[in-house]
Amino acid sequence: MSLPHLSLRPTSATSPPPAESRPLRRLHVITWGCQMNVYDSGRMADVLAPLGYRPADSAADADMVILNTCHIRERATEKVFSELGRLRVIKEQRAAEGRETILAVAGCVAQAEGAEITARAPFVDIVLGPQTYHRLPEMVARAHRAAGPVIETDFPVEQKFDFLPGAPAEQDQAVTAFLTVQEGCDKFCSFCVVPYTRGAEASRPVAGIVEEAQRLVARGAREVTLLGQNVNAYHGAGPNGGDWGLGRLIRTLAEIPGLLRIRYMTSHPRDMHDDLIAAHAEVPALMPFLHLPVQSGSDRVLAAMNRRHTADDYRRLVDRLRQARPDLALSSDFIVGHPGETAADFEATMALIRDIGFAQAFSFKYSPRPGTPAAAATGHVPETEKDRRLAELQALIRAQQDHFNMRSVGLDLDVLVTGPGRRPGQIAGRSPYLQAVHMDGPANLVGQIVPVTIRQCLTNSLSATLNNPAYAQERASA
Ligand code: 5AD
Ligand code: SF4
Repeated sequence: MSLPHLSLRPTSATSPPPAESRPLRRLHVITWGCQMNVYDSGRMADVLAPLGYRPADSAADADMVILNTCHIRERATEKVFSELGRLRVIKEQRAAEGRETILAVAGCVAQAEGAEITARAPFVDIVLGPQTYHRLPEMVARAHRAAGPVIETDFPVEQKFDFLPGAPAEQDQAVTAFLTVQEGCDKFCSFCVVPYTRGAEASRPVAGIVEEAQRLVARGAREVTLLGQNVNAYHGAGPNGGDWGLGRLIRTLAEIPGLLRIRYMTSHPRDMHDDLIAAHAEVPALMPFLHLPVQSGSDRVLAAMNRRHTADDYRRLVDRLRQARPDLALSSDFIVGHPGETAADFEATMALIRDIGFAQAFSFKYSPRPGTPAAAATGHVPETEKDRRLAELQALIRAQQDHFNMRSVGLDLDVLVTGPGRRPGQIAGRSPYLQAVHMDGPANLVGQIVPVTIRQCLTNSLSATLNNPAYAQERASA
C-alpha cells in the first residue's frame, strides 16, 4: 500500500557535520512525495556525510543536488523534467564560476524512467532507484570520473537497510519520527506503479528496527510511525528466527522506555491480521487512528482494481477493529473514475463512506500510470465526470472530518507536545488522532504527553487548555 500526503511539495533534508578530515561539500536534497521519500532523503544525506557533505539551503549553494521524486500520480515525469530544467540553469551558472555540481535523480521516477532521464537530460550525473541508496557514495565517486551518467536502477540482491547507517540525522531532537520497516508491494492493484518502482515486498529484520527505534528515542523521539508501502504485510526475521508480523513487532517496540506512541502506515485491508487487530486492544502506545485505504465502495470496481476484497469485507474489518478499540478513528484513500466506474459504482463508494464515517481521507481522480493494467483497460471515465465525482466525495469527507473535529470540543485528550506554537507562550502538539492542537504552556513541555481539554475547533487545528498546568510544569522540570 502506498502512502498518502503525496502533495508533491518540496521539503529539504540535510546531512550531519562531516568527518574532520574531509573537504567540506554542500548537499541539497529536494524531496517530493510520501513520508518514505522523506525518510529516504535523510538516509541519503546520512550515507554522504562521511564524504564531507553538509547541508545547503538551496541548490545554488550545493556541490551536489538530489531530486528525490515521486511517481504515484499524474504528470510526475513532466514535473521532474521541469525541475531538472531549473537545476540545469543553476548547474551551468555554477560551472561558469568554476564550481562543479553533481546532479542526482532518485526515487520512483528515476526507477521507472531512468533511460528517459538520461536521454532527455544528459546533464544529470546520477540516476538511482529507491533500492540502491546505500551505493550512493560509490556512485558519487564514479560520477567524478565518468564522462556519462551513472545509473543504478536494479533491484540489488543485497538489502539496502543492511548497508545504510542509522536514523536520519535531520530527525535529531524531533519528537516524532518515521521508521521504515518494509518496502515494496506484491499486491499489484490495477492502477498503481508501486510494485514496479519499489519492487517486491521486503521486510527488515526485527533487530535492526528495534535498534533504530532505540536510537530515535535516545535522540528525543517520543512517537514513531512505522512506514511501509504495505506496512501491515510486514513479516521480518525475528531475533531468534521465525517471521514476526507487525503486531508482534509493535508489542516489542512498545516496551522501549520513552517510546510513548506508535503508529503505522500504510495498510492494506487484506493484511489486517488477528494479532495486529488484537494489538489495537492491548497496546496502549498504539494510537487509535488508522489509515486504511479502501479506494472504492463498489465490489465491481474493487475487483477491477484487483484489491481482492469486497466493500462488506471492509465494513466487517472496521467493525472488528472498533470492537478491539472503540475509540478508533479511520482515514482512507479513495480513487474516483477508475476505468469502468459507473454512476452506481460511485454511489456505492459514497454509501461506504456514509456507513464507516471517516476522520479524514485522501481522494484522487484516477490517472493512468504507464505500464499498469488499468491504463490499458477500456471504459475510461471522462475527466469532467471525474471532477464531479471527486467534488461530491470530497464534500462528504470534509463534512465527516468537520464533524469529527467538532466532536472533540469539550473532550479531554492526551496531547504529545511537539514544539512551540505560533504565538509566544504557546505550544503545539498532536492528539492521538493526529489532529494539530495548540495551547498556552511552557516550552519545556516539548516531548511530554499532557492532558488537555479541547476548547475550540478552528479550520486546521484545535485549541486547548492544559488540564493541570502546575503539575505538567512540575513534571517537565523534574
Ligand atoms: N490514480 C489516482 N490515484 C492513485 N493512487 C495511486 N495510484 C493512483 C492512480 N494511478 C492513490 C491511491 C493510493 C494513494 C497513495 O494514491 O489512492 O492509496
Ligand atoms: Fe498500495 Fe495496491 Fe499500490 Fe500495493 S499496489 S502500494 S497495495 S495501492
